[in-house]
Amino acid sequence: MDIHSPITINGITIKNRIALPPIVNFGWSDSEGIVSSKHIAHYERIAKGGTGLIIVEATCVNPTGKIFSYQLGIWDDKHVEGLSKIAEAVHKHGAKIIIQLNHAGLSTRKAVAEKALGPSVDPENNRSVELTREQIDGLVNSFVIAAQRAHLAGFDGVELHGAHGYLLNQFASSAINHRTDEYGGNHGNRLRFAHQIIKGIREVSPTSFIIGYRMAGCSPTLNDGIEIAKLLQAYGVHYLHVSHGGEKGINPSVPDGFAFNHVVYMGTEVKKQVSVPVMVVNQIKLPERANMLVSNGLADMVAIGRDMLTDPDWATKAKSQEPINLCIDCQPRCKRYTKPESCPLAE
Ligand SMILES: Cc1cc2nc3c(=O)[nH]c(=O)nc-3n(C[C@H](O)[C@H](O)[C@H](O)COP(=O)(O)O)c2cc1C
Repeated sequence: MDIHSPITINGITIKNRIALPPIVNFGWSDSEGIVSSKHIAHYERIAKGGTGLIIVEATCVNPTGKIFSYQLGIWDDKHVEGLSKIAEAVHKHGAKIIIQLNHAGLSTRKAVAEKALGPSVDPENNRSVELTREQIDGLVNSFVIAAQRAHLAGFDGVELHGAHGYLLNQFASSAINHRTDEYGGNHGNRLRFAHQIIKGIREVSPTSFIIGYRMAGCSPTLNDGIEIAKLLQAYGVHYLHVSHGGEKGINPSVPDGFAFNHVVYMGTEVKKQVSVPVMVVNQIKLPERANMLVSNGLADMVAIGRDMLTDPDWATKAKSQEPINLCIDCQPRCKRYTKPESCPLAE
C-alpha cells in the first residue's frame, strides 16, 4: 500500500490517500462570505492535478466567529449556490470534497465582532466573553445547519476545525477552558460541545455523509490530544486530521531519528491509539516522504498543503515520478497569509 492506493471513509472511496488540507484564500471572498470565481477555478485546478480529497478552507458557521472580515461563509442559505459550484467543479475530476467548518471564538478579530466569544474569559483579551449555555446551544445549531448546507451544496462531508486555537480547540483545551459547568473540567466535559455538534450533524445528514475532525495533537499536551482522539472516535467521527494547537499547545519533542516534525509526530502517535483513519500534515513536501508514512502504517492519509499550491499536479507527478515545484518556505511566514497572489510561485 502507498499514497496512490484508494481508501474508503464511511463508505465513500477516495481514489488515493493524498489530500489538500484546508488553506484560506485571503481576499477572495467578500464581506458576506460569498464564493468567488477564483475559488471555483482554484479548487478545480487542484482536483485536476490528481489529488483524491480536497478540504475546502476554514468556512465560518456564524458571523460572530469570523477569523477576518472576508472569510468564506456558510452561515446562511445564500452561501449554498456558490459552494455548490466548487463541489461540482471538483467532482468533475473524480476527487471527493469536504468543507472545513469553523468558528474562531476568542480569536475573532475586533474588526469583525465587538466581543470575542469563548468557553472562558481570556485574561489577555479584554473583548473576551464567556459563552452562556443558551449561546452554546445556538452555536451547536450553527455548526449543524452549516453541515446541512454543505450536504445540500453537494459536499461529501465536513471537517470540524478543532485545531489551531479556534473555538472547538478552546473548549477542548484545559489551558483555555476554565469552566466549572458540564462544559469544563474533564476531557469528556470539555469535548461536550464537539460531541453535541457531531450528534446533531449525524441526526440531520445521511449516513454516508463524512464527519471529519481536525484536532490539535497537543491540547494542550500530546497525552491530552490522544485522550481527545479516543473520545472523538467514540463519538463517531469518520477520520481524524491531526495538526497543532496554536499558541497554547505544548509541542512534544520528536524522538531522535524520526524524519518529520512534531506535528506529523503527533499524528503518528494518535494513529497508534485509534482505529479510524488518521491524516497527517505539515512539511511532508515530497512523495517519497509521504509514502514512508503511509507504506509503514504510520498514517492512513497525507495532506500536502503549500507544496500542492505551488504545484497543483503534485499527486499526478508523484505517480509519474516527475519533479515537483516545491514551496520555497517564505519566512517569516507564508505570503499567502496576505493574499494567494503574493506567493512567489503562484501560477
Ligand atoms: C495561508 C494559509 C492558510 C491556512 N488556512 C487554514 C485553514 O483554513 N484551516 C486550517 O485548518 N489550516 C489552515 N492552514 C494550515 C494548513 O492546512 C496546513 O496545516 C499547513 O499549511 C501545513 O501543511 P504544509 O506544510 O503541507 O503546507 C493554512 C496555512 C496557510 C499557509
